[in-house]
Amino acid sequence: MKKLAKILILFLAIFTILAIGFLFLQFIPYGQNHTNPPVVQEPNWDSPVTRELAQRACFDCHSNETVWPWYSKIAPVSWLVQRDVDEGRQKLNFSEWQNATNYEKLGEISEVVLEGEMPPFTYYPTHPEARLSDQEKQQLAQGLQNSLK
Ligand code: HEC
Repeated sequence: MKKLAKILILFLAIFTILAIGFLFLQFIPYGQNHTNPPVVQEPNWDSPVTRELAQRACFDCHSNETVWPWYSKIAPVSWLVQRDVDEGRQKLNFSEWQNATNYEKLGEISEVVLEGEMPPFTYYPTHPEARLSDQEKQQLAQGLQNSLK
């Protein structure tokens, strides 16, 4: 057999194995639970602008109004998204503010905004609109301070 044909067959075999593996990943249940539970209680927003900024930069992981894009349904990306939303909602959920009294670190919320820790930098490539200017960060941090009492 010609060398080129051998390489081609090897390449096709590897591709087929990868494709089958990828298909199997889609049957793993974790990452498929894309629910948005009802919005129970939001913070007492000090202005519509504060809510807008929070919605733009935080709601996908810290509310029950997550926008689930098409790729969030495809493993293994779906696993990363599921983990972010599960952990994010657990730490801080703007849609279940009645539970926020348990949240000891309210002051930290503004801090993570100002320091650029949140949203996580891995979020920006797919959500450029979440990137806040310095002025918007100030505005959101101050607005959160006023709202989250
Ligand atoms: C892509 C998902 C995502 C977005 C968007 C996001 N967060 Fe988070 N956030 C998380 C995850 C996951 C955690 C828990 C793990 C951690 O602390 O890193 C978290 C934790 C936090 C915490 C708790 C930190 C702690 O140490 O307890 C605060 C406060 C917070 N986020 C605020 C925000 C604010 C404010 C925004 C919007 C400006 C935001 N987050 C946007 C995913 C996100």
